Amino acid sequence: MIVAKGLEGIIVDNSSICKIDGNAGRLIYRGYDIHDLASSLSFEEVAYLLWNGDLPNHQQLRELNNELVRQRTVPQELKSAIRNLPTSSNALDVLRTAISILGAETPLKKPEMMDAIAISAKIPTINAAFYRIRNGQEPIEPRDDLNHAADYLYMLSGRDPEPVKVEALNKYLILLADHGMNSSTFTARVVASTWADMYSAVVAAICALKGPLHGGAPAPVLKMLQDIGKPERAEEWIRNELKSDRRLMGFGHRVYRTTDPRAEILRGIGEKSAPKDLVELAETVEETGIRILQEYRPQRKLYANVEFYSAVVMHSVGLSPDLFTATFAASRSVGWTANVLEQAANNRLIRPETEYTGPMNRKVVHINAR
Ligand code: ACO
Repeated sequence: MIVAKGLEGIIVDNSSICKIDGNAGRLIYRGYDIHDLASSLSFEEVAYLLWNGDLPNHQQLRELNNELVRQRTVPQELKSAIRNLPTSSNALDVLRTAISILGAETPLKKPEMMDAIAISAKIPTINAAFYRIRNGQEPIEPRDDLNHAADYLYMLSGRDPEPVKVEALNKYLILLADHGMNSSTFTARVVASTWADMYSAVVAAICALKGPLHGGAPAPVLKMLQDIGKPERAEEWIRNELKSDRRLMGFGHRVYRTTDPRAEILRGIGEKSAPKDLVELAETVEETGIRILQEYRPQRKLYANVEFYSAVVMHSVGLSPDLFTATFAASRSVGWTANVLEQAANNRLIRPETEYTGPMNRKVVHINAR
């Protein structure tokens, strides 16, 4: 039997949420090209689209905004729990714990839209609260006059965010919001398929997001750029990395065999929001990385993925690297929950199989004789 290692190419279900054309480098949410969505819409409009299937009219958007704003606050007990975690904790682990605490009070019930909105609304508040507590500062309450991206930046710094940073973060949140059967979304759907609740599915998704082969890559990407330091050092640094059998973070993708369209858009955002020298360095590292990976792995078309320029953009809006993956979760929570709702609406238990390759017909020997 041929095993599809890593489930590559396996179609697990139908979905009307997200389409990726890996050869053409196209990403579509609910029929809309990601370039169009990221060029003019708010994160809230795109969240509505992913959750409901269509873009909202004024009234629908107003209602969603009101609900997101109402749901932004987190209970005092949750803030106390965050305070009790070691300040050396990883922000994504704190987020996972926080969502688990929020879910502890939720009865086992079929996932609902309200759960999706509540979770996505609260993630920036949780991330910002931990960030400030860790830095010896008091958490800041969310504001109801700011949009999702602006309020996140405000809760981190306590200052009115610059419009260029709000715009960059808003676009980042749109671009990362969904991406087909990526590992974390698949995990969320597996959990939902057992009739577990929305909070459990999102906790599991956060766990799957953590590793550097998925959502944990952007902080190592920034570190790589900082280690390289100057464009002229890129070639030597990258060759050393590959010679040492390490993977180049922010390059390669399971589905794309050409440039990841999100990376292209994020590159453009970085050009507007990030310092010029960082952008120049990133662009040189991207070009050099693609060229050298082509030499090392000629069979595999390896390009910069979304995480490469995510690192540049998140850094440029003032996020510290340990918030990168937790901020990815702030965006992807919309895709996770949209997928959980879709799974729950037309569910069958997800339960694949492995091809057994272990021994057979062994006889149990008493422990004294082993
Ligand atoms: N650097 C060096 N070699 C690479 C890289 C890379 N970034 N990516 C793939 N390869 C090589 C592998 O070593 C492998 O070579 P081999 O066949 O000689 O063993 C070959 O390309 C195929 O790699 P796979 O792991 O089979 O590719 P897969 O589709 O499973 O993995 C992945 C995709 C995990 C993203 C991979 O490209 C990678 O590890 N990239 C670096 C980490 C990263 O950027 N993660 C973020 C991904 S984006 C996201 O999840 C939001």
